[in-house]
Amino acid sequence: MTTKFIPVSAHRFALAPGIGISLGAEAFSPSQRLCISAWSEHVPFLTWLITRQRPGVFVELGTHTGMSYCAACQTVRAGRIPTKCFAVDTWQGDEHAGFYGGEVFANLRAHHDPLYGGFSTLMRKTFDEAAADFAPESIDLLHIDGLHSYEAVKHDFDTWRPMVRPGGIVLFHDTQVRNRGFGVYQLWAELAQTYPSFEFYHGYGLGVLQLGAPVGDIAGQGEIDALFAADEMQQVVIRQAFAHLGCANALDVADRMRREGASK
Ligand SMILES: C[S@@+](CC[C@H](N)C(=O)[O-])C[C@H]1O[C@@H](n2cnc3c(N)ncnc32)[C@H](O)[C@@H]1O
Repeated sequence: MTTKFIPVSAHRFALAPGIGISLGAEAFSPSQRLCISAWSEHVPFLTWLITRQRPGVFVELGTHTGMSYCAACQTVRAGRIPTKCFAVDTWQGDEHAGFYGGEVFANLRAHHDPLYGGFSTLMRKTFDEAAADFAPESIDLLHIDGLHSYEAVKHDFDTWRPMVRPGGIVLFHDTQVRNRGFGVYQLWAELAQTYPSFEFYHGYGLGVLQLGAPVGDIAGQGEIDALFAADEMQQVVIRQAFAHLGCANALDVADRMRREGASK
């Protein structure tokens, strides 16, 4: 059986009365990229965010097998959003993700290039090397998901922060992990006091940070503002909705991987 991938549609329904956030078909679209990743639980939120923000430039630091990155590319393609996407990774691994061989990059490239090669670039270099390729304030959406020690993630944020435009958004994965030397939660606690922010607790935690007031007129900004302005009760509803969607996506990915493996 082939899975039908749903194009982004104009039809949306309100998440709940009084929370200015809607969901469209994109939030329910199955992941085309099938791989094992803790990120599969955040795919519905990422697709929601990209559909609302319509970033001109999206950069991901840390792509590995490509769950989060391909979800972004899938959304851009399905929605015909004019986004240039860049994935930065050595594709060698690190102390937290584990070290791996060239087959990971080859597998990602075989999936990525025919589908997304027209608007997306896989940059096989270190984050520090790649930083020189981006102009100040040129990035609308940055996802930081490299090595997760406090020192490493702070270095990545400090290095790349000048390249994010005022009002741009930075995502941090693993904000809820407090063992194995992970320190994203410490940086997140510092940053969330300074900038508009929202945190999801499921899927090891995802921090969403906005760097100051947005500049320019983005159609979906009202919904993004509603995320950052949510009161405590609204935050619970938003967290539950995306945790539910994320769990469904993770189970669907695992199920399709199992069936695909079984049919070979
Ligand atoms: C947690 S994984 C990324 C997970 C991915 N976002 C997903 O959806 O599953 C972290 C990746 O960051 C890469 N990485 C870590 N530090 C790096 C650095 N300084 N420069 C380039 N790549 C790095 C590793 O090679 C690894 O593939």
